[in-house]
Amino acid sequence: MITTRAAVLNEIGAPLELTDIRVDDPEPHEVRVAVTHVGLCHSDLHYMTGTVPTDLPVVVGHEVAGVVEAVGSAVTSLSPGDRVTGALTPSCGRCANCEAGHSTQCTRLEEVRLRQRPAFETVDGRPIERLAAIGAFSQHILLRENALVRLPDDVPLHVGCLLSCCIVTGVGAVFRGAQVRPGSTVAVIGCGGVGSAIIQGARLAGASAVVAIDLDDDRLKAARGYGATHTINGADADPVAELHRELGDGVDYAFEAVGSARTAETALALLRPTGTACLVGIAPMGTELKVPALDFFFQEKRLIGSYMGSGQAREDIAQFARLYQQGRLMLDEMVTRVLPFAEINDGFEQMKSGDVTRIVVDLQA
Ligand SMILES: NC(=O)c1ccc[n+]([C@@H]2O[C@H](COP(=O)([O-])OP(=O)(O)OC[C@H]3O[C@@H](n4cnc5c(N)ncnc54)[C@H](O)[C@@H]3O)[C@@H](O)[C@H]2O)c1
Ligand SMILES: [Zn+2]
Ligand SMILES: [Zn+2]
Repeated sequence: MITTRAAVLNEIGAPLELTDIRVDDPEPHEVRVAVTHVGLCHSDLHYMTGTVPTDLPVVVGHEVAGVVEAVGSAVTSLSPGDRVTGALTPSCGRCANCEAGHSTQCTRLEEVRLRQRPAFETVDGRPIERLAAIGAFSQHILLRENALVRLPDDVPLHVGCLLSCCIVTGVGAVFRGAQVRPGSTVAVIGCGGVGSAIIQGARLAGASAVVAIDLDDDRLKAARGYGATHTINGADADPVAELHRELGDGVDYAFEAVGSARTAETALALLRPTGTACLVGIAPMGTELKVPALDFFFQEKRLIGSYMGSGQAREDIAQFARLYQQGRLMLDEMVTRVLPFAEINDGFEQMKSGDVTRIVVDLQA
């Protein structure tokens, strides 16, 4: 067991508290990672503000990169000193869903997450929860070997962390989830970290039009840099009417990257007949959708969801890292600012500002 520093959420709606915690030794399939950089994702905020329930105290944070420090006795593919990012949905690799390439739907998740002892404890020995069995706002974390991907030397850790959540989620939703075809038309509602990654995915997929929709003009300006060909500010105009005015009968694919019933319903309304709406934003617990049933029959529309890139994160992250090396996937541009660990709460405040795509925290600074 080691002692390290973590940002702990002790109370819903309260700031994170930088505190010493204890981290258990790695179990046979686990790796202890010295965390260097973590991106601030809206999913962390969902837990911090209570829109998604969590036990307390908890260490949130999941968009993570770092350096392997110690490995469990059964680990074969990683060694101390390896630079890594997360492939964050733990999976057994052997159940029917894992075998079929849908690791995000592993049926043995509970079993995989089970540990002999708590991974994190307070210094006086009380267990601390970890968001999704990760808890990346800690200078040291434990992840299973198959939840890590080695990063090439020329992918800096402060941008490499984005690959583990917003990039694999957004670009994965385009290629694995909706399977966007070259020449097709795409709309993206919400242009934060995840939406910007979807826009880049649509550009890489060869979409002939990419319509970015947000409530903030600065986010829309940045969206053009990532590959949007059209922008609509939903605060000034009805996005459905505006999009139909610009693109006729609608788009082939509409992605929702906000997390609300209203924007999910808008995604379906933006589609042309036979189009696919893909929900990526996480709506508050208990949210229900109200959608016109006839859209599915007479217009043959499809409504799907995509979680963490739809299940092939290890392979995809390695490929997306190569696209970054070739200059085709923009990561440096997405990191608006790198803040020292002590300023993590300011970082969550700054996320609300339109000139931010992603704030990254340097846990060693
Ligand atoms: N499916 C997954 O696997 C997955 C993974 C990561 C994040 N998420 C979820 O994706 C969502 C986006 O995450 P993020 O980190 O990019 O958030 P973010 O805070 O960086 O960006 C959200 C964006 O949505 C815009 N927005 C808010 N309301 C809007 C509206 N009504 N119409 C248009 N735009 C609006 C904001 O201006 C902002 O640009 C969150 O709900 C997050 O929890 C899902
Ligand atoms: Zn995330
Ligand atoms: Zn499985």
